Amino acid sequence: MEKKRIPLTIDGKNVEANAGQTVLECARENGIFIPTLCHYEKTTNVGACRVCVVEVENARSLVASCCMPVTPGMIVRTDTPAVRSAQKMIVELLWSSGDHNCLTCEQNGACELQNLVYWLQIEKPRFEIEPPGYAIEDNNSMIQRDLNKCVLCGRCVRACNEIQVNEVLDFSMRGSHAKVGPAFDADYINSSCVFCGECLQVCPTGAITFKQAKFAGRPWELQKTRTTCTYCGVGCQMDVFVKDNKVIKVSGNREYGKPNEGSLCVKGRFGMDFIQHPSRLKKPLMRRNKNDELKEVSWEEAISFISDKLSAIKKKNGPDSIAGLASARCTNEENYLFQKFMRAVIGTNNVDHCARL
Ligand code: FES
Repeated sequence: MEKKRIPLTIDGKNVEANAGQTVLECARENGIFIPTLCHYEKTTNVGACRVCVVEVENARSLVASCCMPVTPGMIVRTDTPAVRSAQKMIVELLWSSGDHNCLTCEQNGACELQNLVYWLQIEKPRFEIEPPGYAIEDNNSMIQRDLNKCVLCGRCVRACNEIQVNEVLDFSMRGSHAKVGPAFDADYINSSCVFCGECLQVCPTGAITFKQAKFAGRPWELQKTRTTCTYCGVGCQMDVFVKDNKVIKVSGNREYGKPNEGSLCVKGRFGMDFIQHPSRLKKPLMRRNKNDELKEVSWEEAISFISDKLSAIKKKNGPDSIAGLASARCTNEENYLFQKFMRAVIGTNNVDHCARL
């Protein structure tokens, strides 16, 4: 049955939406820009920041478009002086209640608060800047937290609870003392946090940042490439950010969708040191006799040595005396070739894989 569409007007444009859609969703579908900050797709709309306010005819006050469902005949205006004035006030208050020093912030150039300040053409906040003075959490090797840059949008809380379902983060305290973190004000390292880094990925400011990427490159200097995580068989899609041929950081890719829909685990997001590690094996090493030192040899020499050994074992004990274990760090094609080699060349079905997820 065809769904009944709801007619409404946004900025004088006649549009239609499905029942249950919000004004924000409808506006975006129709190419009408409404700024947001706390809104994050795939998590509950909480209306925390009010940056997305719009005017709705006959409403008593401005409404948060991310939480307001469409109704038939609704007349919405997104760019009136009252709307802009409220948005400016909200952004100035957020700016002045934190330590948003863009000069050294890792998020400079990718900060959603910075973008809003620029878009609203705010030269400086009309209020005194009063950062709360929290100590920076810097006692783990993956995530740095600076609550002085937190705008209490709650995106990290919802990502932790609703996307990853780790249920580590929540709000504590009240009013101007409100803060986000694990229970009992613990650091990440002393909590049940599994360091998936989802909080880091959704944070709109520099409050939660990628520690290994600190001072390693500005957002605009990094080249983004989508690739597949090599750790297990799920095939998570990720974006690697590279500068001077070095991977600086990793982020889950949301646009591609399946299988991970933008999320990553601790290994996929933070376990990238092996790529440039000096101990990484790039050439074959061979020990001819038991007590010899490992020596670098050519691929031809290594392969012919293995071939001789495998042929000798097969001749003496039969093909089933040989087994092969493939790696999750190989591509599907490589693993296909490997099993083909074991079955067709060696003659055994003793083949397995380290990632049968
Ligand atoms: Fe709508 Fe924050 S984006 S209230």
